[in-house]
Amino acid sequence: MEAKKLGLVLGISTIVAAFTMILHLLEAPQVQHALLGEFNFIIPAMLKGASSSGKYQQGKAGVLLPNLTSCHESMGRSDLPVYCCPPMNQSDVAFIDFQFPDPSLPLRVRRPTHLLDENYIAKYKKAITIMKSLPDTDPRSYTRQANLHCLFCTGAYNQQDSNSPLDIHRSWLFFPWHRMLIYFHERILGGLIIGDDTFALPFWPWDIPEGMVIPEMYMKAPFFHEARDISHFPPSVVDLDYSCTASSSDDYGCFESGLGPEDQVYTNLVMMYNQMVAGAKKMELFMGCPYKAGEGGSCNGPGTLELAPHNTVHKWVGSNLNPGSREDMGVFYSAARDPIFYPHHANIDRLWEVWTKLHGNKVITDPDWLDSSFFFYDEKLQLNKIKIRDVLSITRLRYAYEKVDFPWLNNRPRPSVPLEVARNVLKTRQNAKLQRNGRFLDSTLRTRVNRPKLRRTKKEKDEEEEILVVHGIDVPEGRYVKFDVYVNVVNETIMNPRFREFAGTFVHIDPGVIRVAREANLETLRKKTDLKLGISELLEDLEADGDDSIWVTLVPRSKGCINATVDGLRIEYIR
Ligand code: C2O
Repeated sequence: MEAKKLGLVLGISTIVAAFTMILHLLEAPQVQHALLGEFNFIIPAMLKGASSSGKYQQGKAGVLLPNLTSCHESMGRSDLPVYCCPPMNQSDVAFIDFQFPDPSLPLRVRRPTHLLDENYIAKYKKAITIMKSLPDTDPRSYTRQANLHCLFCTGAYNQQDSNSPLDIHRSWLFFPWHRMLIYFHERILGGLIIGDDTFALPFWPWDIPEGMVIPEMYMKAPFFHEARDISHFPPSVVDLDYSCTASSSDDYGCFESGLGPEDQVYTNLVMMYNQMVAGAKKMELFMGCPYKAGEGGSCNGPGTLELAPHNTVHKWVGSNLNPGSREDMGVFYSAARDPIFYPHHANIDRLWEVWTKLHGNKVITDPDWLDSSFFFYDEKLQLNKIKIRDVLSITRLRYAYEKVDFPWLNNRPRPSVPLEVARNVLKTRQNAKLQRNGRFLDSTLRTRVNRPKLRRTKKEKDEEEEILVVHGIDVPEGRYVKFDVYVNVVNETIMNPRFREFAGTFVHIDPGVIRVAREANLETLRKKTDLKLGISELLEDLEADGDDSIWVTLVPRSKGCINATVDGLRIEYIR
């Protein structure tokens, strides 16, 4: 208790110090760039003619398939070799095409972590204990399961017929690949307790107030995990927008939001509303960019939910004793070693279902996505080749989610100041002198962005979502980069996702390892990112729909931003 109090005092004084520093920075005119404004107009001109419809383009055929003979080892920091490849070469392993489970089998019902009973926990405990006791030569072993995630997040496999590595984060591969991973993980766990075909993973519902702490069960063996941030143990409320604010005294220091439990819960709910509803009205905004096969086929553009809370919760759980990377959950190569990875991803998987239902069961129809395939071992030690199209119905996979409420569904945020006040301040700001040296995200960037179409009708808005693109984000290797994007903000220093001015956040998690190139073209993994944020609803709420330009502010939230750059901002429309 005393330690907690001390922590709180230290926490508050650090926040006060950081706040003072930020205020100080904002006072210095040479630091507060009102920039980008000019080069902002150069880049869109260059890109004219590029698609602005935003509908996934039908490019040349680009079905993805990993080449299992191509496993590259990775190196972590010099003191930390990371070997995720399976002990034996997989090229001789015969595979089968995935078969749907018998439709007469009972559904595996995944339940929320706060509603599990003793019997269930005992069963899960038994399964995971057996899994942890299997040798690494067994693909069902806990280490091999965790390494699967490492392999596909570090680009350890090349693609079939190409020397491009395959990475399943930051694109439309994110949801289906993780669905496959935990689906087979669940079947294996069930198999280990003598063919229990009702066994289901639990989900950690951090999007509802009852689920906003680390689940009780994951605080005890065998679900407890050493490499976590002790200060985030219960009753600490999860921060779905967890930031590692830049600090001069500590290179990587992650700051707590400083919000009390009730405010944190409220802010989380508003954040959820933005990531699931207001900011995710079109497929690409939620699912991410179309990653296809071949050298030119990769892309780097995560969807709203992947950016946050997915990435932010990873960082929030990971250990502060591993600064910067916050292993194990805080970087991808090690994330799946923590048992909490699985209920975290079950919740991500559930929210994909929820979003799909909220959007009239729309699915991506591009065959390149539907036919992209991956390999997974099942409980019978058979290697399955499974296509994305095979995992689009969870009923056909014979699992389901127990219903929980969506308290965030109607948490539409309000502006931080009365709109009249904001309008007057923003009017005077139009005279601000623009500087050009603002591509680095070393401090708050503010710029005006022109809007091509004003006062669109409701029908036009439903058809075409207005999106703000922060394009060409270049992230330095090995750094955690997070920045928030706000529109028509008067005072950046008080901003957080609870206010309507919040358009979204960019959160980049590093794989955590340096990839060993061997016959792989790593340039394709180093592509710049485009962040696409849906803002039609935000503009209505801020009564900015008739304005021919908006003010956009990028607020760095991590030390890694110092070396990150952005190419510019523009408005596009997505169908
Ligand atoms: Cu592949 Cu939660 O990350």
